[in-house]
Amino acid sequence: AQIGKDGYRHFMEKELHEHPAAIGQTLANLTDQATQSFKLPALPLDLATLPRITISACGSAYYAGLVGRYWLESLARLPVDIDVASELRYRQPHQPDRGLALLISQSGETADTLGVLRYLKDHDQAILSILNVDHSTMGRDSDAVIPTLAGPEISVASTKAFTAQLAVLGALAITVAQARGAIDAKRAAELTKALQAVPHKAVEILGGEAGVQAMAKVVAEARDVLFLGRGVCMPIAQEGALKLKEITYIHAEAYPAGELKHGPISLIDKTVPVVAIAPSTILFDKVISNLQEAKARGGRILAFTDKAGAAQLKGVAEHMVVLPDSDPFTAPLLYAIAVQMLAYEVALLKGTDVDQPRNLAKSVTVE
Ligand code: G6P
Repeated sequence: AQIGKDGYRHFMEKELHEHPAAIGQTLANLTDQATQSFKLPALPLDLATLPRITISACGSAYYAGLVGRYWLESLARLPVDIDVASELRYRQPHQPDRGLALLISQSGETADTLGVLRYLKDHDQAILSILNVDHSTMGRDSDAVIPTLAGPEISVASTKAFTAQLAVLGALAITVAQARGAIDAKRAAELTKALQAVPHKAVEILGGEAGVQAMAKVVAEARDVLFLGRGVCMPIAQEGALKLKEITYIHAEAYPAGELKHGPISLIDKTVPVVAIAPSTILFDKVISNLQEAKARGGRILAFTDKAGAAQLKGVAEHMVVLPDSDPFTAPLLYAIAVQMLAYEVALLKGTDVDQPRNLAKSVTVE
């Protein structure tokens, strides 16, 4: 059957509103009903003794991989190598015996990611893929697939597939961490519960359009925008910058907030808005001082934060969007939705072709 917009103005708007269902269905599919813990498909190797994991993907899926790296390193104490697919195999990184490769793709057909899959297979790595279309070339060529159940994504710019990928990566990180004895059952249950609470919070974020619209007015006037994040929210700053570039044609760059002083601060004046991904829980004091430095140079600070963060950013940020409180573990999912909403609202103000931005394709099947 043909997929319609169901009364939304664009597929992107419709798909933004499908974040809660995409995350919820993806997690439910991985949840053992009796124990309420995650149960992943069988892998041809032992997670407990895994020497390393190699992650690769393109575009937004790569940023999901960066969040996955953070979780697998900090939570599961697993060494991670990660690169964009168009670079990884040309670097020829050493592959460990019995190592695992993790590929992430909405379509399962991206040529660069497929190239990496074959390279890593040739180097005796077991292949695990996170795919939205599991009847795809990557699905066929993988040893195991964890599906994202985001449903068809029509808009060229990825939305719900991205948070569904994060949901899978969160479940994977919890499972690997437990298998390796890096966290106990109690902590695993807390993190699982936090992840399962995301769809509900996502609904709340999607209802906060008005705040995002106010911020979008400032961004729509700019020629250049800087996105700042730290830690596990740095990839969300990258996702925010990518989405803005893709659908509004405004130049945007993402930087780790701590790197501001090592270069990009020279760009800041009143014409370059600074968008901070700043939950109060993730290196927040350091983020505030980074933002104060930007403000002192005349920068206009726009912040995505939570209630506690908003109290401290008063006087620093010109516009704030206040997100629901959450476990820091789940912040990437919530803040991803907010930055995607910002790009969408700016695109509406600019009048661009939101679902079919110029020069871009939904699935890039050439190298
Ligand atoms: C294209 C799309 C992006 C997407 C990337 C990876 O560039 O425009 O939105 O993130 O491909 O696609 P995949 O299907 O592999 O996730």
